[in-house]
Amino acid sequence: MFFHRIALKGLALSLVHNSFVNAVVLPRQSKNPASDLLSLIGALDTSGADTASNPFTLPGPKFVITQKADDPVIRAAAIATKQLTFLYGPPIAGGPSYPSGATGLLRTAADLLAIQMDIRPELAGAVLDDTQATVNLPQYDGLDSVKDYTKLYPNNWENTLPRGPHPGAETNFTRDLFFSMERLSNSPYQVRRLNPSSDTLAFEIDDATARKTAGSTLQSLLTDGRLFYADYRDQKNLPPTTHYSAACDAYFYIDPSSGDFLPLAIRTNVGSNLIYTPQDTANDWLLAKIMLNVNDFWFAQWNHLAQTHEVVQIAYMAAVRTLSEDHPVLALLNRLMFEVFAIQSLAAGSLLDS
Ligand SMILES: *[C@@H]1O[C@H](CO)[C@@H](O)[C@H](O)[C@H]1NC(C)=O
Repeated sequence: MFFHRIALKGLALSLVHNSFVNAVVLPRQSKNPASDLLSLIGALDTSGADTASNPFTLPGPKFVITQKADDPVIRAAAIATKQLTFLYGPPIAGGPSYPSGATGLLRTAADLLAIQMDIRPELAGAVLDDTQATVNLPQYDGLDSVKDYTKLYPNNWENTLPRGPHPGAETNFTRDLFFSMERLSNSPYQVRRLNPSSDTLAFEIDDATARKTAGSTLQSLLTDGRLFYADYRDQKNLPPTTHYSAACDAYFYIDPSSGDFLPLAIRTNVGSNLIYTPQDTANDWLLAKIMLNVNDFWFAQWNHLAQTHEVVQIAYMAAVRTLSEDHPVLALLNRLMFEVFAIQSLAAGSLLDS
């Protein structure tokens, strides 16, 4: 229990510190993080606000740390009760224990119900849009060129994308900068800078092609610390479906003159194991970028489940079981972990083949 408390405190403080306090509320170098945290909680306590329409409002009484509790005995008894009824049960969708016991199951059921109510309008919109798009199909008369795909958007998807796709997505979707920015916004942790003194090159690009694309050879990009690498080769070992799929790895670089982060080469690791670069024909290179995007989408789903949900959820469970409902750290976590116990049940139904 002691360990959990320490772990939790670290998690909560780092979550708060990194994503919230630094960005919005507190100056970067806080001299007294604990008291700053408490004043942050105080500021968030907007009692009287409409909690039904704003789930991010902290409800209830003033939150206090254990030492300042009005009645430590009652507070401790309430925690003991939680520990008897909010239990560590078997994992759902992999990972560590999942809530069990009377309150644990109730909480999971409540989160599931809440999230299903929340996404109802989106689901309804998706069904309407899907029907409309199917009705509109004949008007496209086939899709002959890459550009034809932009015809799919006007007068479609109006419920799910009322303002249409972002203008840049319609005009710039074949550009390399668009593709590399997708890397940074989808799974940035999947791309890493190669260290010239400890990393080796996974594959070679001939000097002429590298120079034409990036202005220098692969080796000098590496030496200059401008070379990046993304690796999805492990997807090669997954049971295949009837649909063709690659298991790409790829190089990216920072362009010395523009400072842009750009793709340099994509290797497929299946079939003829071709290496594509921006020097290929436009459609071949676009195909390579699509293949990498497919790999990244697959990666993102599993990585998010494993590195996000399965990590925070067990720390949150420890918090629920060991902290008073009046503890400011639990108040913050309740807010950050909104509906979180719905997710792994949903993942078990939609991501996993069970
Ligand atoms: C398309 O990309 C260019 C170059 O990065 C950028 O200047 C332009 O604003 C983008 N277009 C849209 C509509 O976002």
